[in-house]
Amino acid sequence: MTEPVRVAITGAAGQISYSLAFRIAAGDMLGKDQPVILQLLEIPPAMDALKGVVMELNDCAFPLLAGIEATDNPEVAFKDADFALLVGARPRGPGMERADLLQANAAIFSVQGKALNDHASRDVRVLVVGNPANTNALIARENAPDLDHRQFTAMMRLDHNRALSQLAEKTGKSINTIDNMVVWGNHSATQYPDLHQCTVDGQPAMSLVDQAWYENDFIPTVQQRGAAIIKARGASSAASAASAAIDHMRDWALGSDGWVSMGIPSDGSYGVEPGIVYSYPVVCKNGDYEIVQDLEINAFSRERMKTTEDELRSERAAVEDLLG
Ligand code: NAD
Ligand code: LMR
Repeated sequence: MTEPVRVAITGAAGQISYSLAFRIAAGDMLGKDQPVILQLLEIPPAMDALKGVVMELNDCAFPLLAGIEATDNPEVAFKDADFALLVGARPRGPGMERADLLQANAAIFSVQGKALNDHASRDVRVLVVGNPANTNALIARENAPDLDHRQFTAMMRLDHNRALSQLAEKTGKSINTIDNMVVWGNHSATQYPDLHQCTVDGQPAMSLVDQAWYENDFIPTVQQRGAAIIKARGASSAASAASAAIDHMRDWALGSDGWVSMGIPSDGSYGVEPGIVYSYPVVCKNGDYEIVQDLEINAFSRERMKTTEDELRSERAAVEDLLG
């Protein structure tokens, strides 16, 4: 039998985790022959609710679930963790931007970055989901000086999947026929979903849609999808966010089928300020990710990539005091 791996989930009694934990325990993230130990973190007022989640996880009798630790202590939750999904944070409500959560949530990620630094596996892979995800990943990473910057990533896969779904619907083709989707920048309303590299059934996506739909419909729909869901549901996306988190971690660990979008520390590629957590097109293989290089960037794309970069720079400036 394969040795179990340790998967830490924060905010484990919240909405996203109510889908995420069960799917991970079912083998959707790491495969149907990889046992997992779930290390679930909550804050003290939510520990009763977390007990209920643990009871339900047990009641599923998942064959791959090799153990559960439920705790309100980050040091316990991250002990020897191979994967850490940092979901626990306040969600925004109607009329808010994700950056409005920066001050409320930033302190969580400095504490958790330190705990990861001191207690997690040296190979831990960290995915930040809690908003504003990119800058929270930056804060966590800057508080974990003994870990590699590249171990800290932010979730852009939901945006990537939303872009795939919008394009599939517009062209009447299946998601499986779409390649080379890219979302650049921040998980915010400035993100830039870029179709210039993308193909549908081998044909350039931009030859299948008109510029007006691209600019006035596709881009704003993807950028504003989170807000549209909050308006419709009265709560932010949960099952789709959990699904995207699983896609992100699965591809990082086991390899991607082509390009995916991940928020990663910029290495200066495409002229982006080094260090900020910026979404790039990447290919995952051998347990690692690599930025897709040498793409041609036109003036339309360059301007939008810069706008979202500028937003990330100003978010970083706003949390300077928390950067380790
Ligand atoms: P939720 O309010 O249902 O759950 C959050 C949970 O986190 C709560 O149970 C809360 O008790 C817990 N929590 C708060 N502080 C904590 C801490 N310090 N340690 C551990 N747990 C803590 O929210 P949700 O809908 O599950 O969303 C969680 C976060 O994910 C929000 O910030 C939301 O905006 C974000 N989100 C991001 C994306 C993305 O694409 N990056 C998508 C959807 C939601
Ligand atoms: C999303 O994109 O659905 C999440 O980031 C939640 C939000 O605040 O929009």
